[in-house]
Amino acid sequence: MRIGILGGAGKEGRGLAMRWARAGHDVVIGSRDAARAHAAADELGARARRAIAGGDNATAAAGDVVVVSVPYPAQRPTLEALRAALAGKIVVDLVVPLVPPAVAKVHLPEGGAAALEAQRLLRDAARVVGALHHVSSTVLEDLERPLDQDVLVVGDDAAAKATVIELVGALGARGLDAGALANAVALEAMTPVLIHLNKTYKRHGLALKIAGL
Ligand SMILES: NC(=O)c1ccc[n+]([C@@H]2O[C@H](COP(=O)([O-])OP(=O)(O)OC[C@H]3O[C@@H](n4cnc5c(N)ncnc54)[C@H](OP(=O)(O)O)[C@@H]3O)[C@@H](O)[C@H]2O)c1
Repeated sequence: MRIGILGGAGKEGRGLAMRWARAGHDVVIGSRDAARAHAAADELGARARRAIAGGDNATAAAGDVVVVSVPYPAQRPTLEALRAALAGKIVVDLVVPLVPPAVAKVHLPEGGAAALEAQRLLRDAARVVGALHHVSSTVLEDLERPLDQDVLVVGDDAAAKATVIELVGALGARGLDAGALANAVALEAMTPVLIHLNKTYKRHGLALKIAGL
């Protein structure tokens, strides 16, 4: 599958790109600066031992599946600029609406959840799926470390959600159907709780596992 990652040269995008490339997917890293994306793609492709492409965010938006991997304040301008290109696409939103420096406190944005805001920004033309909010960039980038966690996946389009659950499997985690896109509120709100747990118990990359399933 062709996977574009908007902001893919950033912390979270890097590990996603390498793990999906290793699983045989064609990954395009996007950036506001195509040269930065090319440099990251060369470096990460060498580490993953499979070619990764780079380009501007519009180039990455040409993928079959497009991941929005930019900080919350950048989500609106990034999506508005690519609205036409993203029509009909599966758009994976992993954006957590954090308000630095209070990143261990839940902040719900005006639209309820970043993923719901993304759906509205794209005028319901894209198939937005929320996922990966609890996957740490440090764990992702350590290719030797198994992704031993569950990833809760939400969305209103069943086929799009099934595709993303498969892509989560390709990363090495277990993807679970966690319901409608409205449930992104709960997923996005859980990340500050995990950040708090990491700080309190002096860990990196604590994650979720659903018991009994
Ligand atoms: N880091 C994690 O462990 C983690 C875990 C789960 C979810 N997330 C979520 O994943 C998303 C990305 O996180 P990250 O840690 O990768 O963030 P990041 O490294 O700070 O930023 C990712 C990329 O976003 C682009 N960007 C930054 N500011 C921008 C702006 N004002 N306008 C447009 N683009 C901008 C940059 O790409 P260019 O400069 O190349 O354009 C940057 O490399 C966030 O929404 C975060 O909440 C992160």
